[in-house]
Amino acid sequence: MKLPLFIASTALTSAVLAADAADWRSRSIYQLLTDRFSRPDGSTTAPCVTEDRRYCGGTFQGIIKQLDYIQRMGFTAIWISPVTHQLEGRTPYGEAYHGYWQQDLYKLNSHFGSPDDLRELAEELHRRDMYLMLDVVVNHNGWNGSASTVDYSVFHPFNKKEYYHDYCPILDWSNQTQVEDCWIGDNLVSCPDLYTQHPHVRREYQSWISDLVRDYSVDGLRIDTAREVEKDFFLGFVSASGVFATGEVMVNDANEACPYQPYLGSFLNYPAYYSLIDAFKSPSGNISSLVNQINLVKSTCLDTTVLGSFSENHDNPRFANYTADLSLAKNVIAFTMLADGIPIIYAGQEQHYSGGNDPNNREALWLSGYDTSAPLYQHVAQLNRLRSHAARQSPTYLTYKNQPIYSDSTTLAMRKGFDGQQVITVLSNLGTSGPKYVLSLGNTGYQRGQELVEVLTCTHVTVDDNGNVPVQMEQGLPRVFYPEHQLRGSGLCDL
Ligand SMILES: *[C@@H]1O[C@H](CO)[C@@H](O)[C@H](O)[C@H]1NC(C)=O
Ligand SMILES: *[C@@H]1O[C@H](CO)[C@@H](O)[C@H](O)[C@H]1NC(C)=O
Ligand SMILES: *[C@@H]1O[C@H](CO)[C@@H](O)[C@H](O)[C@H]1NC(C)=O
Ligand SMILES: *[C@@H]1O[C@H](CO)[C@@H](O)[C@H](O)[C@H]1NC(C)=O
Repeated sequence: MKLPLFIASTALTSAVLAADAADWRSRSIYQLLTDRFSRPDGSTTAPCVTEDRRYCGGTFQGIIKQLDYIQRMGFTAIWISPVTHQLEGRTPYGEAYHGYWQQDLYKLNSHFGSPDDLRELAEELHRRDMYLMLDVVVNHNGWNGSASTVDYSVFHPFNKKEYYHDYCPILDWSNQTQVEDCWIGDNLVSCPDLYTQHPHVRREYQSWISDLVRDYSVDGLRIDTAREVEKDFFLGFVSASGVFATGEVMVNDANEACPYQPYLGSFLNYPAYYSLIDAFKSPSGNISSLVNQINLVKSTCLDTTVLGSFSENHDNPRFANYTADLSLAKNVIAFTMLADGIPIIYAGQEQHYSGGNDPNNREALWLSGYDTSAPLYQHVAQLNRLRSHAARQSPTYLTYKNQPIYSDSTTLAMRKGFDGQQVITVLSNLGTSGPKYVLSLGNTGYQRGQELVEVLTCTHVTVDDNGNVPVQMEQGLPRVFYPEHQLRGSGLCDL
């Protein structure tokens, strides 16, 4: 269909301004908790006791001060905490430093800074060609006390009981009606659950998100507790925002998660996450079940290449809480960065932090001293560089669906990219005590005699006469191959 010229040009203008899924596909995201990433005074010693669940002093200005740290690791976007005004003061579960207990949509959380500070953060990110992703909550508010004690007049703009679902606890998480219409939280801190089916509530949320995105030049959204809201809420919401959104759908079943994609555009790939952690948290992890999961998500979801690919976040134990083994951590990061989707690394993962469940996994990053020589910081930087380079060399690298090409009980090899430009990633769950051996890897799509580089060790290898790649395995480390002549200009391995 031919569009009238004026419509076509309007569409073009907004496409340039607002970031969509195609723009985000090539990005990689550093997820941080605003309160825990960086203080405006630049302190690397200010105490932050995670068990206390109190504000530790991180701000928008603090983030601006440490953008070099993030950018030098190769990230092209950050995801920050919800910015709205929260329940103030101390509850039995501490303070609302995380941002998931909002009370007023139209005021910012003053602990994080002023509206101008947030605008300055967006500006500074854009100056560096980086994107700003905001975490937003539409499912619930926060209240210090039980459901029966809620004073709805403190909330803005949803200041009447009629804008909320009647109270019921979620007793059966397999009952989707309950998950959507009942309340999370408990008797000490309850979370009044918005009546998101209500046309007024929908309209109000749409108008809010459209203003918020415009006022702060936001490039994308991470939508909290998306599984707790009925799917068709998101069509209008995401479209009103005008930007890309990814949602938190915390389920391990692809058949349950994938149906959210047509409504949200993207979701955080929890099905892959659970299988990934299971496969790599010890040498007895189940690789074949990860392979099955990769294939299932791929065949069930609309488009795996715009899902959020992650291996840590603020809601789950960090990987190093399962094992201190550095090789296993490197494998999990390599999968996160090089499988399908938009890679997301959670602040502290690059410093091998090891906190367990909430609140222990919310350690202050400043206590690491922002060590850019940390092995996982370097590892992430190398992988970000390779991924960006491969995407520049071949735009189809990112849309090619990651394909497992070989697996055994301790190894997974996967291919991403079309002929001549593909990245081959070989992962192992043997850990640092893993033996030295050569894996002869076929099915890579590389040609006999082709010159490759293993980019993590800068080793040059030649595809053998049978078309196999001799993969030198050692200490359970991951291996990542790319054609030598294609690597030129990447800055990797002095090429
Ligand atoms: C929150 O409620 C607890 C009782 O559960 C009370 O001790 C505390 O003072 C309340 N905090 C605020 C900020 O009102
Ligand atoms: C699911 O929960 C709703 C609300 O509590 C209830 O009415 C319904 O019977 C439940 N459905 C099933 C299948 O248990
Ligand atoms: C690994 O998981 C698959 C299912 O995905 C199962 O069939 C197999 O028995 C598991 N292997 C082990 C060693 O537990
Ligand atoms: C794992 O998490 C638990 C709970 O947060 C903590 O007590 C433990 O020390 C952590 N383990 C490591 C290795 O950090």
